[in-house]
Amino acid sequence: MSAQRDLDELAEEIRAHKGAGCGFEVCETCTQLVPGVGPASAEIVIVGEAPGAREDAAGVPFVGAAGRLLDTLLAEAGIPREAVFITNVVKARPPRNRDPRRDEVAHHWPWLERQLDIIRPQLLVPLGRHALARFAPDAKIAEVHGARLEGEGGRQLFPLYHPAAALYNGGLRATLFEDAQALRAALS
Ligand code: URA
Repeated sequence: MSAQRDLDELAEEIRAHKGAGCGFEVCETCTQLVPGVGPASAEIVIVGEAPGAREDAAGVPFVGAAGRLLDTLLAEAGIPREAVFITNVVKARPPRNRDPRRDEVAHHWPWLERQLDIIRPQLLVPLGRHALARFAPDAKIAEVHGARLEGEGGRQLFPLYHPAAALYNGGLRATLFEDAQALRAALS
């Protein structure tokens, strides 16, 4: 079976989880689960924490204000959005945008593992400290952003600050653009 078909079937499985009655609040209260978007051939996978309100409504990750900044950063890095796979650690919007709980992360984590097993990206870009913590538990985003880092299991990471953080902190915006240029250089 092709990797693309595996990835599409996994997306269907994730979407079908809505209404499965698992009892986890995120799965019960979201409008829909948001598996991720992008091709199985992606060499880069971008991982946020969890969908927000816009993503919950659209069923697509990073389509709100943070997503628009992410698009600009990808352009700065010379990476077409259609060439990367974009997803989240948790596939369902936490109510009132609270942080996902530890048991919710554990509940959703196997889906991300399976997506990564299918795609086998060269580089994984965790956005923000929450996503980073899942791949490099001891790393601090303030110390490791904008450079390559080896994560757990030998995964090649290139952590960036979360674009949403830059919406509230103008100083981070400049840092994110510098890091996007560093990403471009790391890929060339
Ligand atoms: N923030 C995230 O972490 N993920 C999204 O999909 C949107 C905003």
